[in-house]
Amino acid sequence: MSKLLKNFYKKSIDERIDALKSIDKYDESLDQTANPMIFDHLIENFVTTYEVGLGVAPDFLIDGEIYHIPMATEEPSVIAGASHAAKIIYRNGGFKIDHINRLMIGQIIFKNVNEPSALIKYLTDHEDLFKQIAYKAHPQIHDLGGGLITFEVEDKSQGFVCLYASVNTLDAMGANTINTILEAISNHVTINYKAEVLMSILSNLAVDAVVEASVRIDPKHLKNSAVIGKDIESASTYAHIDPYRAATHNKGIMNGISALMLATGNDTRSIEAGAHAFAAITGKYQPLTKWYMADDFLVGKIKIPLALGTVGGSMGILPKVKLSRKILGIKNAVDLMKIAACLGLAQNFAALYALTTDGINKGHMRLHARNVALEAGATSLNINDVVNHLVSSKQITVDNAKDYLKSIK
Ligand code: MEV
Repeated sequence: MSKLLKNFYKKSIDERIDALKSIDKYDESLDQTANPMIFDHLIENFVTTYEVGLGVAPDFLIDGEIYHIPMATEEPSVIAGASHAAKIIYRNGGFKIDHINRLMIGQIIFKNVNEPSALIKYLTDHEDLFKQIAYKAHPQIHDLGGGLITFEVEDKSQGFVCLYASVNTLDAMGANTINTILEAISNHVTINYKAEVLMSILSNLAVDAVVEASVRIDPKHLKNSAVIGKDIESASTYAHIDPYRAATHNKGIMNGISALMLATGNDTRSIEAGAHAFAAITGKYQPLTKWYMADDFLVGKIKIPLALGTVGGSMGILPKVKLSRKILGIKNAVDLMKIAACLGLAQNFAALYALTTDGINKGHMRLHARNVALEAGATSLNINDVVNHLVSSKQITVDNAKDYLKSIK
């Protein structure tokens, strides 16, 4: 089991690296930018790399295990919020994973179908054949225990029929695997049934790759106030009523999850698309978490699809993605799904706690002042002074910071 990283935020950069090293969560050889040649192969028209900071939110206690979470983000306060929430939740017994499943969904969409019931019958009658075709298209994944599991077919009206395939992609996000299997099946159907295929593609609405996690917090850890617990409950209730608030509520959840997805080389857009589509699955856009008081405790729950991967794509190639993996110390994609869901719940807790108490600005102001101070030319020697000046003068502007820097020179 990993150890706690106490007072991580108070340390210098070198001390943080030392702290990670001391628990075998850091490797110098991975803390380097990949060779430009690699990027030139990964994307088209490559010119240069683009940077965001990678920080660590420490001490997430999840089902009895401690995890430290790498997060790549441009937004100040995201890592601070997650870390603060993790600390409170640690004192309350940590996060609990309530349920998890992991199958990906692919779609073959048929168009101009005159007799949907006949096509549906043909497709369902040939399940065994399609499994053989899927095997031939991608023997490796099937030999490893994954591949096409089953499928369902639906008449979607207006001449469309859709085959929904359930695919076990093992630890990969599996877009290529799914698309390869689907295309092999759709080719067969096109030739043998003369059906017209509109497209074959995975779906990002990953309802079979969902994590449910929860926390239970004693209000004595919330500035000793049951009122705060009640207000967090009200914030959750309100987000269920009003999609304008639900969108922002869910954005806060994704602040954490997307930062982890970026740090681990995952496709942030597919995770975002899945989360928001899932939030609207009932026809009304809803928050992805729920907070309520039960037996004098604040209970928080998250239910979110996380069709992520830990192998494939750039994951085995980019040193910093490998570094994130080392910091996490995970075994597989299911571990990463669990951590991502808990991070989302923590991030949401941090936002609601701040919003219903001090308001979001108080915490943000200092972090915003740091950015302004850096822009004005502050260095590690004087940045704290400059930030204090900006905050106390209530004028967080680059000009104010520049004037102050001149005055202390
Ligand atoms: C800001 O990036 C995220 C929040 O707006 C989330 C929320 O309102 O719940 C603070």
